[in-house]
Order: sequence, then C-alpha cells, then structure tokens
Amino acid sequence: MVSPMTTPHLSVLRNEIVESFSSCSLSYFVDGTLGAGGHSEAILETHPELKTLIGIDQDEQALEIARHRLMPWNSKVHFASGNFSQLSQILQSIRLPQVNGILLDIGVSSMQLDQAEKGFSFMRNGPLDMRMNIKDPLTAAEIVNTWPEKELGRIFREYGEEKQWRSAAQAIVKARAINPILTTHALADILRPHFFWKKKGVNPLTLIFQALRICVNRELEVLEAVIPQAIEKLAPQGRLAIISFHSLEDRIVKNAFRFAASDKESTSGIGGIFLTKIPTVKLLHNRPIIPTDEEIAQNPRSRSAKLRVLEKL
Ligand SMILES: C[S@@+](CC[C@H](N)C(=O)[O-])C[C@H]1O[C@@H](n2cnc3c(N)ncnc32)[C@H](O)[C@@H]1O
Repeated sequence: MVSPMTTPHLSVLRNEIVESFSSCSLSYFVDGTLGAGGHSEAILETHPELKTLIGIDQDEQALEIARHRLMPWNSKVHFASGNFSQLSQILQSIRLPQVNGILLDIGVSSMQLDQAEKGFSFMRNGPLDMRMNIKDPLTAAEIVNTWPEKELGRIFREYGEEKQWRSAAQAIVKARAINPILTTHALADILRPHFFWKKKGVNPLTLIFQALRICVNRELEVLEAVIPQAIEKLAPQGRLAIISFHSLEDRIVKNAFRFAASDKESTSGIGGIFLTKIPTVKLLHNRPIIPTDEEIAQNPRSRSAKLRVLEKL
C-alpha cells in the first residue's frame, strides 16, 4: 500500500513541461495522468492565473496521493476518476467547452511499478494483475491462463516487440496445462529458461511484462482515442504536451500530431494526388524533447521518455 504521505514518483521532464506552457495564459488546464501530482504542482506553482486544473487518473490510490500533495491549491483543482480516453465526457460533465493546456504523461508511475500487489514487475512477487484501474474486468492472469497461444504470441510480438514471442507463448501454454500461472514470479520462472539473453539490451522478461501491461490497460487504444479529443478541446493557442515511454506510444503520438499539423488528408496521395484539409495545429519542435544526462542519472526511469508538444491554431 502506498502511503498518501509519500510521493516517491519523480516527475519526468518537469522543467521541460513548465517551459512548454510558460508562454501560455492558462485559465483551464487538464492533467490527464495526474499520478503523484508532480507536474500539476509545477503548473499550479508557475501559473497563478489558473482558475481550474482538472486532474484525471484511473487509479484511485494515485488520486489520493495527488489530493494530499495539491492540498494548497484545493479550491482550484477538480479531481476526476476515470480514463483520459473519456476526456470529452469528463469536460462536458463539468461544463468546460475548452481548455488552454493538456498534459499526458503516459504509462505507469514508479509507485505503481513498485507495488508488488499491482503485479507490474517481475522484480517483485505479486498477483498477475496489472490493472491501473482495479474496476477494469481484464487482468494479466486471465490473459496468461485463458488466451489462445496465437493471441499470446501476437501481443508479445506487437506490444513487447520481443523476438522470442513464439517460445514465450509456447512455454506459457505448456505450463498452464499443469497449474494456473497466478503470480509475477511464477510467470518469470516459467519464461526464464526459454529465453536467450546475454544481459545486454533489454531483458526479454521486461518486454513480455510490458506487452501484458499494454494489453490489460488497452494503452495504445486509449492513447489513439484521446489525441483527437484533446486537440478538439484546446482553445486557440492552447497546447497539448505528451510524454511517452516507448516507441509504440511515440509512433502514435508522432503520427497523430503530424496528421493534425498537415494540410494533406492522408499520408499517401492516390496517383500522386493528395486531398487537402485545413491544419488545426502547429508542432512546436521537429524532434521530441528528451531528458538531459543529468535527469537520467538522477532518475534512470526517465531514460526512454520523449516529449512532443503541439499548439492549436
Ligand atoms: C507516469 S504517471 C504520471 C505522473 C505524474 N505526471 C506526476 O508528475 O506525478 C501516470 C499516471 O497516469 C495514470 N494513467 C495512465 N493511463 C491512464 C489513462 N488512460 N487514464 C487515466 N489515467 C491514466 C496512471 O494510473 C498513473 O497514475
């Protein structure tokens, strides 16, 4: 259990987020991944003009921690329990047609990763759960124990980008025929002997666990769903900043941002002819912003972070 008195998650690219919104007048701001509230705290500290900050998280424990941390701004913060893919509905429910800034710092927090009972990490023994929202119906245990070998292989290949996806799926199906696989350590022990890994590069177990987590929380689908809603809800000159942590997520963000900034209706012109549309945003940088060496040394979990920012026209 994480104590609301502790805020162990270090906000990634905190200064860069402050910088991304520094020239904006923020009356209304959405933090779609409130977590421990670190980025929201930075925004509240640097934008005294803020009328309302809407903090969304699908994890009740995260909301509890953020509530404690953001106590000094209690009257300005509206806490919303839910998935950021319901952004339009959440804003509609509080009658906010437009906002000036939106931040998404996607993935799991250090607090979630470190809680054995969430089952996110093979470094800690816990139930194979992996739900950020404990009300969601699908757990990692259900996937591992009931999904067909072909489907397991597909998620390990697509969401883990793990080359040994076939052996992983086979090993799971063989093991579960004897006993159900219920804990993170049981799954890791089953897979380890089937993996070839020279302790260079990413541990295949990390990629298999990542694949299960992405699948349980539908992380790619919700990211794809939120970007058009976020752009639609931004007021002119409003900004959307997204921090992602692996290439699958960054590809979705990059493509959706480029499409919104483009005057072409699709990326391939049929017969060399492109249908045109009016761009709705401009991109603030050509390349993603990444953490400094200093930040990576201080917080190794930041090393794969990429920040992309757009501005509504
Ligand atoms: C990396 S942490 C955010 C940390 C936060 N920016 C800070 O500075 O403390 C991500 C948080 O977003 C939440 N989250 C992830 N995906 C979500 C989604 N689709 N909808 C709502 N919350 C989500 C997680 O539960 C987690 O608490």
